[in-house]
Amino acid sequence: MAIKMKTAILAATATVVAAISGIAYAAGGGGTGDYKMVHKHWHFNGAFGTYDKAAAQRGYQVYREVCSSCHQLKHLSFRHLGDKGAPFYNEKYPNPNDNPLVKNFAADWTIEDIDGDTGDVIERTAVPADKFPPIYPNEAAARAGNGGGLPPDLSVIVAARNGGADYLYNLMLAYDTPKPDDVELTPGLYYNPVMDGHKISMAAPLSEGLVEYADGTEATVEQMAADVTEFLAWSADPKMEQRKSTGLMTMLYLLILAILLWFSYKRVWRNVEH
Ligand code: HEC
Repeated sequence: MAIKMKTAILAATATVVAAISGIAYAAGGGGTGDYKMVHKHWHFNGAFGTYDKAAAQRGYQVYREVCSSCHQLKHLSFRHLGDKGAPFYNEKYPNPNDNPLVKNFAADWTIEDIDGDTGDVIERTAVPADKFPPIYPNEAAARAGNGGGLPPDLSVIVAARNGGADYLYNLMLAYDTPKPDDVELTPGLYYNPVMDGHKISMAAPLSEGLVEYADGTEATVEQMAADVTEFLAWSADPKMEQRKSTGLMTMLYLLILAILLWFSYKRVWRNVEH
């Protein structure tokens, strides 16, 4: 009898918990209005996942040609692009400062610096050791250039937002969703059902054929969104591949250790009656 009661209480509790989490889930999942989130299979997910280097390379092109007019990558230096596990790593150039591609990417930017002799503020071409420079001189200028909105730094955005890569990817695609009549937009705001509150001060940054990919890939909005997401997933977690391979080696080591222990246990106790 007591056991039956306990089972009943347990079952009831489980039902309540399931119902509450169901409601919570529905509230979260219903947050994107008419837009249905696309869940992409990312190459970098899972225990053995790695970055798709070709996609991340295209993603850098999208960042450079589109996003970099407003968004900085303040946690990255140019040379990071050529590190081991990075999109432009080349084993011929273990030191990324020598990697010609990385040098070219850096040389594409102008950096503010101080002249060592005169102390004057000067502008010079960037080198691989430089960080990605700020896009605006200060926050007020950034807001003034964006109708009051502040473009966040993108170097760790994939780690900083709930939903990570899927969030960023869908944010790029969701601009096409028709605006419901009851949503009012003030000038400088755009409808985007993936954004918190469904209003965003960034106009749709991508449109068909916006970039001409160096590798000939067709530049659809989905393609560019996926590629820039791959690139920004890497920039948010550049050591992921190293970490996963260390994890794998550790597991292998533990497995071998366990097998050896098993055999030595068998051997040590072989003459003892159990
Ligand atoms: C013309 C300037 C401009 C360009 C170009 C631009 N953005 Fe933005 N972006 C903004 C502004 C402004 C905001 C702040 C929006 C807000 O808070 O309402 C923003 C916000 C974002 C956010 C944060 C959204 C959130 O959850 O808060 C992401 C992610 C983002 N942009 C990604 C990109 C990517 C990727 C590109 C290139 C494909 C890009 N942006 C191009 C101006 C720009």
